[in-house]
Amino acid sequence: MTPLYKTLFILSITIFSSILFYNCGQSPKEQKSELAVQPSLKPSQKDSSRYPNDDSELAWLMRDMYQDGEKIKMAIQSKQLPEDFREKFKNIHTATPTDAAVKGEVFDTSAKVFLQTLDKFYAEKENQIENFNLVVNACVACHQNYCPGPIKKIKKLAIK
Ligand code: HEC
Repeated sequence: MTPLYKTLFILSITIFSSILFYNCGQSPKEQKSELAVQPSLKPSQKDSSRYPNDDSELAWLMRDMYQDGEKIKMAIQSKQLPEDFREKFKNIHTATPTDAAVKGEVFDTSAKVFLQTLDKFYAEKENQIENFNLVVNACVACHQNYCPGPIKKIKKLAIK
């Protein structure tokens, strides 16, 4: 290979894998289980008018959750009352994921713990920073099992 081709080759791999990881970064284990459940994932059944690019309900909810997390963080930092997003975030239990294998007992437990950290955050007037960082930890904890790709980005939500 000429040096130019080599560079292009490496570049395209880097871009490809970062796209993959941005959108979730599946571990090899998850990929295998995805193959197993593939027949139940009929793309035609998705309502693509609500979810363009074939992205799942859960992926859209997660993007919202990230932005709402930033809003909460800004409110804390400017000593304002953070908006209560709990009603929206509860949909984490019902939103359809890209990979049907995601749903199960472990996912539900992680989701429950996550919602509990939010309850604690909104219930206590003091310890806002600590309690918000617990919420962020709960995001990360679930992502370690299901979706490692965005962890680095999620950790940036934590308040130092
Ligand atoms: C109970 C598990 C769980 C919790 C808690 C959780 N996530 Fe996720 N997250 C997932 C899964 C599973 C996906 C993959 C969704 C899909 O592709 O259908 C995901 C995807 C994402 C994505 C990528 C979305 C995209 O563009 O494809 C971001 C960003 C994200 N989550 C941020 C967060 C943030 C921020 C929090 C906390 C406020 C959070 N997540 C809490 C399981 C969780």
